[in-house]
Amino acid sequence: MALAWSLVPAPAQAAELSPAPAPAARATPPALAMTPPMGFNNWNAFGCDVNEKLIKETADVLVSSGLKDLGYQYVNIDDCWSLRERGPDGRLVPDPVKFPSGIKGVADYVHGKGLKLGIYGDAGTKTCAGYPGSLGHEELDAQTWADWGVDYLKYDNCNNQSDGSQEDYVRRYTAMRQALDRTGRPIVYSICEWGTSRPWTWAKGVGHLWRTTGDISDDWASVRSIIRQNAPLAAYAGPGHWNDPDMLEIGNGGMTATEYRTHMSMWAMMAAPLIIGTDLRKATPETLAILGNRELIAIDQDRLGVQGAVVSDAGGLMVLDKPLANGDRAIALYNSTDTLATVSVATGETGLRAARAYRLTDVWTGRTTQVRSTISAAVPAHGTVVYRVRPLRDASSVAPAVTVGAELGTVVPGPAGGGELTTAVTNRGVGAIRDLSVSARVPDGWTATATTERRRARLGTDATLETAWRIGVPAATPAGRYPIDVTASYTWGPRRRPAVTSSRVVAVVVTAPGDGRRHLSTIDPVTSVNAIGPVETDQSNGGALENDGSLITIGGRVHTRGLGTTTGSELRYYLGGRCSRLVTDVGIDDTAAGGPAASPATFTVYADDAAVATSGPVSSGAAEPLTADLTGAAWLRLVAESAAPGVPADWAAPVLTCGGVPDDSPVLPESQTLFSFESGTDDFTIANPGDGGTVAQSPLFHTDGAHGLKVSTPVAGNWFGRALAAPLDLSGKTMLKFDVKAGDVGTVGEIAVQMGENWTWCQGGLWTWTNAGASRTVTERFDQISCPVGVTLDPGDIRAVWVFLNTGGDVHIDNLRAE
Ligand code: GLA
Repeated sequence: MALAWSLVPAPAQAAELSPAPAPAARATPPALAMTPPMGFNNWNAFGCDVNEKLIKETADVLVSSGLKDLGYQYVNIDDCWSLRERGPDGRLVPDPVKFPSGIKGVADYVHGKGLKLGIYGDAGTKTCAGYPGSLGHEELDAQTWADWGVDYLKYDNCNNQSDGSQEDYVRRYTAMRQALDRTGRPIVYSICEWGTSRPWTWAKGVGHLWRTTGDISDDWASVRSIIRQNAPLAAYAGPGHWNDPDMLEIGNGGMTATEYRTHMSMWAMMAAPLIIGTDLRKATPETLAILGNRELIAIDQDRLGVQGAVVSDAGGLMVLDKPLANGDRAIALYNSTDTLATVSVATGETGLRAARAYRLTDVWTGRTTQVRSTISAAVPAHGTVVYRVRPLRDASSVAPAVTVGAELGTVVPGPAGGGELTTAVTNRGVGAIRDLSVSARVPDGWTATATTERRRARLGTDATLETAWRIGVPAATPAGRYPIDVTASYTWGPRRRPAVTSSRVVAVVVTAPGDGRRHLSTIDPVTSVNAIGPVETDQSNGGALENDGSLITIGGRVHTRGLGTTTGSELRYYLGGRCSRLVTDVGIDDTAAGGPAASPATFTVYADDAAVATSGPVSSGAAEPLTADLTGAAWLRLVAESAAPGVPADWAAPVLTCGGVPDDSPVLPESQTLFSFESGTDDFTIANPGDGGTVAQSPLFHTDGAHGLKVSTPVAGNWFGRALAAPLDLSGKTMLKFDVKAGDVGTVGEIAVQMGENWTWCQGGLWTWTNAGASRTVTERFDQISCPVGVTLDPGDIRAVWVFLNTGGDVHIDNLRAE
C-alpha cells in the first residue's frame, strides 16, 4: 500500500506550495543535504552538449532503472544551457534550441517524475564555457532559478575577477548563498571553486558541498590523485556540509571495472556526493550494478554523516574507517599500486570496540567471514575491498577470513629465465583452518613448481604459510601481462567445511630487444613514471593528456623520434644483457621556453644501478648529446630530474644498439623518404582543381634538411599530392607518415593512395587537429587504409600519393615517408 500514502502530500509541503510573498530573509534555512546529494550531471559524459531531450530521457531512466529508488534524485544541468547574452530584463535566457520548454518546463517534467532539477552558474563574469556569469547578478539569477523550480545549484569559479584572497572567495560565494536564501526556495548549493581557497575551512554554512580538487577525468591517474587530496579532509565534512571530490566517471570507458569499483567504493567511504556522470540511456548492466551497489549507497548515505577517516596510508596502500549509525563500521582497504598487495589493519587501530571476534561483509561479493583482530585482504592493483564490520560474539558458524597474497617480479621467457613467485596464505579467523593446500594456475605451457612447503595440516589464527615457487615460461612467449591465479583450499570448523580463497597476480613478461640499432621510442618500456601526464612517444609532453604534445623541439631543432617526459620521470627497459649502447640528445623542450617551469634539468642513463651517462644541468634551448655504455646490463633506466618536477624534458632521437651490430648499421625501423621538399614542391599539386588551394616550398617548418611544403588550404579542403612517374614498390613497409604543423584547430586530414593498373583510390582514416600551433607526425598504417569493396591494397604497386588538408589557413607538411 506504499502507493496510497506516497500520493498524499505531507502538510508541510502543501503549505509551501501555496503562493506567498518571498520572505526578505530566512532565519533558519531548511536543512538540506543532510546526507551527500545523489543524482546525475551531464558534464562528464556530454560536456556542453546538453539539451532538454537528454535531461528528460535521463530522468526517465533514473526512474525505470531503479536508481531513483536507490536515492539518485537530482538531475543536474551543467554549463552551456543559456544564451550567450542576458535578456532585455537582465535575466538569463535558456537556449531555446536546446531547451524549447525552457528550464521551467524541464523542471516541471523532472518534478513530475518525483525527481529534482539542478542548474549551473558561475561566480564570475562568464561561465567556464563563456556563457553569462552571475557575479553582480546574484539576486536576479537566484530568483530566476527559484522561479523556474530549480532545486540545486552548482556554482563555478571561472572568470572570477578575483584578487585570489580567501576573503574574495568567501564574499563571492556567500553573496549567492544569501541570494538563494532570500528566494525562500530550498536549493542545495554546490560550491565549485576546485579547492582553490580551501573551502573546507570556511564554506560550512555557506555551501552544502564544495569541490576539493580540480576537474576529474575518466582515467585512473585522476581518480588516484583526487582520493589522495580528498581523503585527508574527513574532519571538515558532516550533514549539510560535504567535501566534493567531483562527479562520477563510472561507465565512461576510460577505466577498468576494478578501477570504477574503487571509484564508487572510495566516494562512498568519503561520504562524497554521488553524481552520476555517464550516459544512463546506454549504461551497461555492469555500470548500473556499480552505481547501484546498495551496500555502498547505504555507507555513503549513512545518517551519521561522518566521512571515513584515514587510519593508515603508506606505500600506496590506504585504510579508511567510517562509523555507521547502527554501530557497524565500514572499513576500506585501498590499493593504489600497480600490483596485487595485501592491505591490513588491526581492529584496535579502528573505531571498533574490543571484541572476541568481528564479522566482515564484503560489499562487492556479499561474502561474510570472521576475524580475530586483523582486517585484511589481498587487493588487486587499483582495487578496493570494503567490509561492513561489527563485533561478533560467537564465531563458530562463520567462515574464517583467509587472505592469499602473492608477489612476483618480472618474468623472462626461456630456460635460462623464469621468475620467482612467493605466496602467503594467512588465517585471520578465530580457530584454525585445516587441510590447507596452495596451488598456482599459470597460462598454458607455463610451469609453476613449489620449492618450499605448499601444504599445512593446520594453520592457527594469524599464522601464515609462505611458499616459494619457480615459474617457467616458454621461450617464444611475447612480452606482456599474464594472469596467475593462486588458490588456497582448506577446511574450517569442527565439521571441516571445505572453502577456497583465490587471488590473481599479474606476471609481467619482459623480452630483450632484437639485434640491431633501433629507435628507442619504438620499444615499450616495462614501467614508466612521469610527473605530469603520460610519457609521450615521438612527441613532447603536453602537460596533461595522452597525445597532447608537439614534435620534440629543442633550441628550434625538430626531432620526429624520441620520448617526451617531464622531470620527475623514470623509464625502465629490459635489455637482458644483450645491448651495448644508447646514443641520444637530451634537453628541455622549447614548449617550456620562457615559462616559469623551465628550471634546469638533469638527465641520467643507468645500466642496472650504475649511472653510465649524466648530463649537466641543461637549460632551455640547449641540447646535450649523451652516449651510454650498456654492455652486460639487464636493465636500462632513463631518469630526468629538476629542482621542481614537471619541466618538459625530451630524450630526442635516442637510438639503442643491441646484439653487437656495427655502429653504422641502419637505424630501425628503416624509413624511406618519398617527398622531402628540399628541391622544391616535388611537383605536389591538387587533386580537385575546382576546390582551390596552393602549395609552395617553405623554410618555415621542416623535419629534415632546410625546407618543407607550405599548403594554403581551402575551407572545404582538398587533396594535395601527385601521381608518380613510375609505380612505387613499398612491399615490406607497413605505414605512411608525414610531419605537419598547423596554426588552426580543426584541420582534418587523411592519406590516400592510388593503387594498381586501374589507379584504384584507397583512403585512410581521419585525424583531427585539436592543438592550434602544434606539430605532429601523422601515421597511416596500410591496414587502416581502405579500398573499394573487393579490392585489397597492394603496397607493391602505388601509383599516386595524396594527403587531405583543410582549415582555410596554412598547413605546413614535410617528409612524407614509408616505414
Ligand atoms: C569547470 C567545472 C566542471 C564543469 C565545467 C563546465 O571546469 O569544474 O565541473 O562544470 O567547468 O564548463
